[in-house]
Amino acid sequence: GKFINVRTEAEGTIGVIELNRPKRLNALNRKMIEEIASQMEAFDNDPRIRVIVLQGNERAFAAGADIEEMMKESPLSFELADPFAIWDRFMSVNKPVIASVSGFALGGGFELALHCDLIIAAENAQFGFPEVNLGVMPGAGGTQLLTRSIGKRKALELIWLGEHISAEVALELGVINWVVAPEIIEEETMRLAGKLADQAPIAVRLIKEAVGKAEDLPLQDGLTLERKNFYLTFDSADQKEGMQAFIEKRAAHFKGE
Ligand code: HXC
Repeated sequence: GKFINVRTEAEGTIGVIELNRPKRLNALNRKMIEEIASQMEAFDNDPRIRVIVLQGNERAFAAGADIEEMMKESPLSFELADPFAIWDRFMSVNKPVIASVSGFALGGGFELALHCDLIIAAENAQFGFPEVNLGVMPGAGGTQLLTRSIGKRKALELIWLGEHISAEVALELGVINWVVAPEIIEEETMRLAGKLADQAPIAVRLIKEAVGKAEDLPLQDGLTLERKNFYLTFDSADQKEGMQAFIEKRAAHFKGE
């Protein structure tokens, strides 16, 4: 794509999408969001791929929506083009998505990271919602996803004040999973992605669905969904392999079937 680089790692089991608009700190224009969503779907539909990694560069994951592009919008142009609807497609990805964040993850860039399942950050990462400083507000899920992640009071603090927080603070708040030195983020991202890629893919997929629903469903409905997904894992060859390997005291080799 024009605004992303795509590659695979670990013998084609990890799909990597690298945001590539470095002169603009990876500011997200519509075309770029469309490219990211399409590539995620392509990886999601590729049976060889088990894990998807989304990354920027050392200076920026993404410094938000493209302000120059956004300036031209009106309520009606938004309504007719409905550009944020593309973001719903990130929600439909069934495979694990890891955001690997160095530098700025602001506004739409932070929202993009929040659409991922796991977030690893370099010590130099900065997260924030500066929209309020522009007289607007988050529009691609920020108010909803951040609040579900860290609660109302902390979410209001961040979104109202518009200040950046460090990776360390983001970790304390529980909005990200790991903080590592900038020199090793690439290696550590691939280690974690590789570990996840070795897990039983059907179990990984059904876990993602069940955990994802925990935030939306009433408890009893969530428990029912979990139970059905648990039962469904018993239709997989990987369940037989996993349990047999335990009995034989050897490592399991999962095939995703
Ligand atoms: C367009 C951007 C941009 C953005 C940076 N650039 N962020 N262009 N949209 N969001 C451009 C700059 O204009 C500049 O272009 C170049 O990238 C390098 O940025 P600098 O500002 O020179 O870098 P620095 O001084 O290091 O400051 C970094 C920064 C600052 C603190 C991240 O760039 C900044 O405040 N950016 C805007 C962050 C923001 O407000 N994001 C929220 C956007 S609203 P030139 O041509 O001068 O080299 C949003 C709404 C989401 O995200 C709605 C859903 C999608």
